[in-house]
Amino acid sequence: MAERIRSARGTRAAKARDESVHMQRFTITYEYPVHFTDGLLRPGNPTLARALSRLEPDRRHRCIVFVDDGIIAVRPEITGEIMGYAAAHRETIELVGPPIPVPGGERIKNELFFVEQMQGQLVEHRIDRHSYVIAIGGGAMLDAVGLVAATTHRGIRLIRVPTTVLAQDDSGVGVKNGVNLLGVKNLVGTFAPPFAVLNDIDLLARLPDRDKIAGMAEAVKVALIRDGEFFAWLERHAEDLMTFQRPALARMIRRCAELHMHQIAHGGDPFETGSARPLDYGHWSAHKLESLTRHHVRHGEAVAIGMALDARYSVLAGLLAPGAEERICTLLEFLGFRLWHPALESTRPHGELAVVEGLREFQEHLGGELTVTLLEDIGRGIEVHEIEEAWVLEAIAWLKQRDQSA
Ligand SMILES: NC(=O)c1ccc[n+]([C@@H]2O[C@H](COP(=O)([O-])OP(=O)(O)OC[C@H]3O[C@@H](n4cnc5c(N)ncnc54)[C@H](O)[C@@H]3O)[C@@H](O)[C@H]2O)c1
Ligand SMILES: [Zn+2]
Repeated sequence: MAERIRSARGTRAAKARDESVHMQRFTITYEYPVHFTDGLLRPGNPTLARALSRLEPDRRHRCIVFVDDGIIAVRPEITGEIMGYAAAHRETIELVGPPIPVPGGERIKNELFFVEQMQGQLVEHRIDRHSYVIAIGGGAMLDAVGLVAATTHRGIRLIRVPTTVLAQDDSGVGVKNGVNLLGVKNLVGTFAPPFAVLNDIDLLARLPDRDKIAGMAEAVKVALIRDGEFFAWLERHAEDLMTFQRPALARMIRRCAELHMHQIAHGGDPFETGSARPLDYGHWSAHKLESLTRHHVRHGEAVAIGMALDARYSVLAGLLAPGAEERICTLLEFLGFRLWHPALESTRPHGELAVVEGLREFQEHLGGELTVTLLEDIGRGIEVHEIEEAWVLEAIAWLKQRDQSA
């Protein structure tokens, strides 16, 4: 009897608790087109005009355009091309002024000054939530401009036009933005899907070889963890890729971008609320290498080293068949990556390896349990929650020895 009274009270208490809470719930569906085109800025190419008028076909749209000064340096005519395009599509596009050059590369992410400056320009040009920010540039400037667009007036439509291989096949098609603060990469940023992404293979024509190669690392990465067939395709087309043949490059970019977008749409955690970073194979050491070298090593170059390290680690951990790591390294080297950097050996005053701090930082970025993606096969990633430091050291020694005997 006493039991029954208690449980009745319990139910009443639970009900009372329920009544004190209104569970607010709603769902937003995100959708954005990612176009693959060439000659985006040729007046006859309808892609940009169509992207702008997707929701309101009959309006003239106010646009502010930011352009990476790196592409302006090698393609100075780009400013005129943008203005010419806007003039040819004046019924759709209203430029608030000439395109604004902004610093390309990590520089723009390292100083909040640039974020504030761009926000000032949005205010000055009366950019509102129905206007567009168009960002043309590499992954770093897209990240910084993305943050500006996502936060000014609590969110302005953003059209990304990525101009590096990495930005076209990975960062530019995703949902993240951010800048660095207090020496921590991407400390300040948001998840904010773009309005549209326009990938133009022509814009890569004058990208330095080093950056073309760097962007291929993400394609190897996503192939390694998700698509063994794609990895074999990369091997078969390695010669065309290392000589930057357009059809091969275009196909690589498209497949890589699709695999990334598939993960975002169907991986169950587009805004990375869990502890896993499923697409970040090879990245825990890569991020650390980037900061240890003060970004003298490009993101893709660091990822290539990180993937080689984690491939060897996967073998040492008994997850991956011996020999597979050699196959991975061979492809990466053929594409033009060097799989060694002396920063892998930098030590702290007590002798610990600096790169190992990357594990903690990798975990801290998301919180929760340490989750690192390793390989159980070429084309199949596997998540682990512990990393054996001794094997990391062994894998580093292996990379060094391989490099010296090359
Ligand atoms: N948001 C994400 O999901 C995500 C994912 C991966 C990487 N990233 C970020 O992307 C950044 C790296 O991007 P990146 O590899 O594109 O390099 P980058 O943006 O640093 O650009 C490299 C250099 O190329 C120049 N440049 C850009 N386009 C050019 C062109 N077409 N021709 C000539 N020069 C050109 C730039 O001015 C810069 O000097 C890092 O900051 C990284 O953190 C973001
Ligand atoms: Zn990456």
